[in-house]
Amino acid sequence: MAENWTPQSWRSKPIVQVPAYPDQEALKVVEARLASFPPLVFAGEARALKKQLANVAEGKAFLLQGGDCAESFAEHGADNIRDFFRVFLQMSVVLTYAAAKPVVKVGRIAGQFAKPRSSDFEKQGDVTLPSYRGDIINGIEFTEASRIPDPERQIMAYRQSAATLNLLRAFAQGGYANLEHVHQWMLGFVDNSPQSERYRQLADRLTQTLRFMKAIGFSADEYQRLRETDFYTSHEALLLGYEEAFTRVDSTSGDYYSTSGHMIWIGDRTRQPDHAHIEYCRGVKNPIGLKCGPSLSADGLLNLIDRLNPENEAGRLTLIARFGAGKVGDHLPGLIRAVEREGRKVVWSCDPMHGNTISSVTGYKTRPFDKVLQEVQEFFQVHKAEGTHAGGVHFEMTGKDVTECTGGARAVSDEDLKDRYHTHCDPRLNATQALELAFLVSELLQAESDASDAKVAAIA
Ligand code: PEP
Ligand code: CO
Repeated sequence: MAENWTPQSWRSKPIVQVPAYPDQEALKVVEARLASFPPLVFAGEARALKKQLANVAEGKAFLLQGGDCAESFAEHGADNIRDFFRVFLQMSVVLTYAAAKPVVKVGRIAGQFAKPRSSDFEKQGDVTLPSYRGDIINGIEFTEASRIPDPERQIMAYRQSAATLNLLRAFAQGGYANLEHVHQWMLGFVDNSPQSERYRQLADRLTQTLRFMKAIGFSADEYQRLRETDFYTSHEALLLGYEEAFTRVDSTSGDYYSTSGHMIWIGDRTRQPDHAHIEYCRGVKNPIGLKCGPSLSADGLLNLIDRLNPENEAGRLTLIARFGAGKVGDHLPGLIRAVEREGRKVVWSCDPMHGNTISSVTGYKTRPFDKVLQEVQEFFQVHKAEGTHAGGVHFEMTGKDVTECTGGARAVSDEDLKDRYHTHCDPRLNATQALELAFLVSELLQAESDASDAKVAAIA
């Protein structure tokens, strides 16, 4: 077990991004209730994910992580969950085929409720109120009452996470993820895309491969692996009282696990080495993500790796780079070189969302699709130059046809943003933009896998 660590030890450390609950007694009562509730996930599942992430760290698999910036109580429904899962599966099939590697699927879902904010207050006209911090903490409505942190919301977030996870498990294991269906949905997307020609080649090759597999007896009717999939959940471990309540001892190993989700991550604003969020995460054995923004130095990163992964276990730590388009070349090579020099085993993933948020001329917070793509391209270029594995991508996305990010083949304009702008926090890629991005990333993966085939051929 981590030295001098308990599920409560974060409480004696400095902390930022904490909500000011006016009624501390009520908060304590809620935390005690949560601690008595069943876990959302099991330690064995978190270990299975860690194993799959270890393959990513070794260059043998690719990570696809994505979902809402912030889940909301308002958007909770079967259709939303289904539509997200459907797009996510299509993205994963496209990426698997191009990479010729397994794709590890991790949703930002079933627990992604708490948000760090750049300011503690929000001003509208003459009125200043506490910022919205996610539905698990307070309400988005701009009224004094709604912005007061309410502990009961943690219970609601837990219930919603349980219901969401239940449906996701049913989809993943109950036949909905059948590869042949996913393939058909993907063909429908390609047919309707203005970029149809560009995506057609990969889609056709996948069709031929599936036909061939069927011809030799590998059909979804007969093979469970083709009907089912592994799907994992993740969220930012921001609200530590909630996380503490779901920190449980695994009876098989005696280790502490976070059972609020399979993977948890530490945000870019809460990664101070001697602060509470790092303290909490170092003691649980789940796979951990660490957001790496422009202010992180190479030495700072090595210090955090020492704390979070002292045993240098592959799959334990995913570094999620989020620098912004045009800035990856300034920051990422130094971090990669330090990690390589010290022989640290990590997964490198690219979050092209959080460094590319801008304010539209129409007043909405948005992200231009081109910038999102550009950051992923730069991420792949840097890894190619450094000889390391571009291990994964991390997107904010939804299965719905929202208008939150601009651009894409079926271009969303600045004027369109007002039409279906539903996010509770950051702008998400809509279903079409997300799948399109997967196709564009697949071109990068294809180039990587062709290059490694060429290397093998040259050695032979
Ligand atoms: C997020 O992932 O929604 C987020 C707030 O990211 P970051 O910590 O990288 O800013
Ligand atoms: Co976000």
